[in-house]
Amino acid sequence: MKFFIDSADLKELADLAQTGLVDGVTTNPSLIAKSGRNMLEVIKEICALVPGPVSAEVTATDHKTMLAEGRKLAKLAPNVTVKVPLTPDGLKTCKALATDGTMVNVTLCFSAAQAILAAKAGAAFISPFVGRLDDIGQDGMGLIAEICQIYAAYPAFKTEVLVASVRHPIHVITAAKLGAHVATLPPNVLRQMYQHPLTDKGLAAFLADWQKTGQSILG
Ligand code: E4P
Repeated sequence: MKFFIDSADLKELADLAQTGLVDGVTTNPSLIAKSGRNMLEVIKEICALVPGPVSAEVTATDHKTMLAEGRKLAKLAPNVTVKVPLTPDGLKTCKALATDGTMVNVTLCFSAAQAILAAKAGAAFISPFVGRLDDIGQDGMGLIAEICQIYAAYPAFKTEVLVASVRHPIHVITAAKLGAHVATLPPNVLRQMYQHPLTDKGLAAFLADWQKTGQSILG
């Protein structure tokens, strides 16, 4: 399972990249706005920091302008993945960019029907937003199960399931059980995944006993 980080905060990304566990990055217009940075500059810097796919989202809504934006974003770095919304124009743009050889992440997916369309349009990634579905009382992880089942039935679909809008480690565990290819994690969720009180308690006890021996491994 690949881990992407859902952030445009360079400091956070640099810190998390050091874990050796980060396979890519996703951004969206809200995250760019939160960074307070120029989008093109920040995407270039993220691409230099993390060698894997870095999603940069178009902001136009019509096909012609989306395609121009997507082609401009794709030129920023070889690891840019252009993100387009799941609309008719977005999928038309996905198909054109995929034909260019650009990786496309289709975002704002909330149904299996939409995920089928994205796969047919040649998306490299489909981003179902599990947390936002949970927020309105629908079953976010149920959607991941449906999409994984459908994609597995069609080996010609090369689209990877990128679990987005992740709110907590249970989303990640469930996504892994379902065989989702990628989860994009807010920085706090990756940090939460390390934590268990018994790890802290066990380590404290081991270190206290070690102290009593008076030994040092490095001499
Ligand atoms: C994914 O690519 C999106 O940027 C993100 O996961 C949205 O998450 P949110 O629902 O927490 O905004």
